Order: sequence, then C-alpha cells, then structure tokens
Amino acid sequence: MDKFIIKGKTPLKGTVNVNGAKNAAVAILPATVLIKGKCHIENIPNISDIKRCYEILEMLGAKINFITPNEIEIDCTNVEEKEISVDITKKFRASYYFIGALLSRFGKASVGFPGGCNFGSRPIDQHIKGFETLGATVNCEGGMIYATSEELTGNSIYLDVVSVGATINIMLASVLVPGVTTIENAAKEPHIVDLANFLNTMGANIKGAGTDIIKITGVEELHGGASYSIVPDQIEAGTFMIAAAASGGDVVITNCITKHLDPISAKLIEMGVNIEESEDGDKIHVWWDKRTTKANIKTLPYPGFPTDMQPQMAVLLSISEGTSYLTEGIYDSRFQYTEELKKLGANIRVEGKTAYIEGVDNLIGCQVTATDLRAGAALIIAGICAEGETELYGIEHIDRGYEKIAERFRALGANIERVSE
Ligand code: EPU
Repeated sequence: MDKFIIKGKTPLKGTVNVNGAKNAAVAILPATVLIKGKCHIENIPNISDIKRCYEILEMLGAKINFITPNEIEIDCTNVEEKEISVDITKKFRASYYFIGALLSRFGKASVGFPGGCNFGSRPIDQHIKGFETLGATVNCEGGMIYATSEELTGNSIYLDVVSVGATINIMLASVLVPGVTTIENAAKEPHIVDLANFLNTMGANIKGAGTDIIKITGVEELHGGASYSIVPDQIEAGTFMIAAAASGGDVVITNCITKHLDPISAKLIEMGVNIEESEDGDKIHVWWDKRTTKANIKTLPYPGFPTDMQPQMAVLLSISEGTSYLTEGIYDSRFQYTEELKKLGANIRVEGKTAYIEGVDNLIGCQVTATDLRAGAALIIAGICAEGETELYGIEHIDRGYEKIAERFRALGANIERVSE
C-alpha cells in the first residue's frame, strides 16, 4: 500500500503543464469502438481509469499501438461484442460508456454495473431511458446491464436531470442509428463538446454540443484515419489554481483553456486571489499576496462551479478569513472528506448539503485518508499548506485521475514523497 508523506508549509512557485482531461478521455476511448479503421489520439492522461479503458478495448479485440504513454494509434475494425464483467466495470464510473458504444455498433451490449467515487446514490435511470427511447430493451440483473435491440431509430429524449454520463452515453448510442436523435436538457461540460468534436472528426454528424440541445443525425459508419488531441483537464487546472492560492504561492498553469476555468477564477478573484489570463487563453497565472476571504459557493452543472472542485475549495475556505457556506448541488453526499480535513484542524460543520466552514489560521499535519479522487487532491493541497508532516493514505483514488501528481507538485517546490509500505 502506497502513501504520500507531505511536509508543509510550502508556497508553490513555478510553472505546471495541464494534462488531457480524464472525463473527456474516458468517453473518447470507448467511442473508438464505433470506428472501423485506425485513429490516432494524443494528450491522453496516463492514469488508472484510462488503463482500465485500454484493458476493456483490448479484450473486445482492439489493436492499440502505444506511441508514447500519452499517445496511441487504435484500430477497432475487428472489435466484437463481448460481455464486460463487473470485475472491471466496478473499478471506474466511465465503464458504462461501453454500453452506448456497443449498442450503437452491434445493437446489443452486456456490461457490468459501474463503480466510481462514492457520493451516495448514483442512479443510471436517464441512461436507460435514453437507450429505451432509441428502441433498446434494457434488463439489469446479477450486477449486469443487458441492452438488446431489434432495430434502433433516432428519437427525442428529454433528460429529467442534467447528467454528464447520460448525455455522453446517449450520444454514443445514437451516432450510428438511422434518423435524428435530440437530447434536451443536455449537460454542457467541455468534455461533452470534446467527445462531439472527436466523433465529428471521425465522420459523425453531431450539432449543438455545449448547449442544452444536442442533435445527432445517424451516419452509416465512422471512418477513422484522423488524428485528435484531447482537451486540457479543467479540474486538474483548477486543482493547481487552488493549490497555488492556498499555499500562498505564485504559479503559471500552461496548456489550459482559461474560458473553461471561468467559474473557478471568478470565485478566486472574489476571495482576493490574483489571476491573470494570457491573451490567447491558454495560460493562467495565479498568485497570492494577502489572506483570502470567505465565499459562499454552490456547485452546479457547467458553467456553474464544478462539484469536482468542491473538496479542493473547502481546503482554501478552511484557511480563509471568515465563515463560508459551501453547498453541494449535484450529489446527495460529497462531504465525507471533511472528517479528514477536521483532523488537520479545519473548523467545518456539515448540515445536509451545506458545509459551514470557519477559517482557521493554520492547518496542522497528521495522518489522513483519501475517501475519493478529488478528496485525495484536496488532502494533498491541505498537506502542502499545513504545518508539519501529513501522511496521506488511500492514494489509489488519486491515481485514478491525476498523472504523476507528486512529481508535478514537487516541481513547484512542494515536499511530497510517495512511499511504499
Ligand atoms: N443522475 C441521475 N440519473 C442518471 C444519471 C445521473 O439521477 O441516470 C444524477 C446523479 O445521481 C447526480 C447528477 O444526476 O446527482 C449528475 O450526475 P452525472 O450523471 O452528471 O455524473 P456522472 O456522469 O456520473 C460525471 C463525472 C464526475 C462528475 C459528474 C458531475 C465522469 C466519468 N464522471 O459523473 O466526475 O462529478 O459528471 O460533473 O465523467 C470526478 O472526475 O472526480 C468525477 C466524480
């Protein structure tokens, strides 16, 4: 079992490059199942969720040539419809994108229930409603989801909740389906636009991604033969922004899309953090010269403040002046990590979906455990800001979404080591 040993309290300084977006890559890799032919994909993060996608693709018959750890050529011409067991699907959320992709290409799919971070109930009823509206029959039994169809036809689907996963899965399921599919009340996250751009590059006909109405006109096949680079990860960029601010540092974050960071930048500016964006919108400079002040924040679907930045922001609010309210607007339960932050000295009271955070002068290092991916990132930031030594367990959660995180924080001056026990 590995752990991180972090010695605080270090202001981060320097430049860090953002990797490709996890949540775009975990949709684009299953999407390659739809392509008869080779395609080239770069800027793929080298993280454990992606390694699991490769494992599933190779099991289905894909040929993957690893050009670098972040760049592949993939050929799904000879992929077959095979059962994807729950042993692998339970390890990550995005495994459910293989249902949409296999259903579109083969008219059927047998895929285990997805895993992912534990935020309370995470139903997939909107995915199933989408598949059924296209004409599929869906049965869930023994931990498996079985989707079958005689014939799929484009149709109109109105999502009851704004769901990233359902929007992506319905896009995947409808790409090769005759007729026009319309998704209303669609999610608008940058990774939805990135998936649409990837599929269109390969011959799909998708319009409106990034708005709340997406129109997919089915095509006979996707041709491949093209190259695509995954969009930069706005959550990773946001994690470095908050780390820079919370540590009292001065960091330039490169290879990002500053427009995607607006919801995070706006809050940080309100709290007194200095932020400067490059003119061409691909770099952001974040620096701190005075203690940040309280803020009230509610997480919302994009372009609202992202739920995946909620734990990192809780760390900054924990050491900001005044009492802040942090409300979770997406999930039933995403505050488990606050118990760990409290061990470091944070003053947090959770009532229902709101955390009341009273700023303290200092966090003090101790032994803590990451309860999920973004909670893990938040605890690294807390360890960097805390006085003394923090021992962070549960770091396999962090490996799911951040590539070489210790090395990259070390390059910014943090004292963080990965240790095997
Ligand atoms: N929901 C339903 N029914 C559905 C689908 C969703 O009720 O059929 C509800 C969920 O329970 C939740 C809300 O709708 O309350 C939004 O869920 P959504 O489907 O948007 O989330 P997701 O697709 O499961 C993705 C990301 C998460 C991120 C959320 C919200 C991936 C692989 N995961 O999850 O990322 O928190 O969108 O932005 O893209 C992370 O990267 O750390 C992470 C957890």
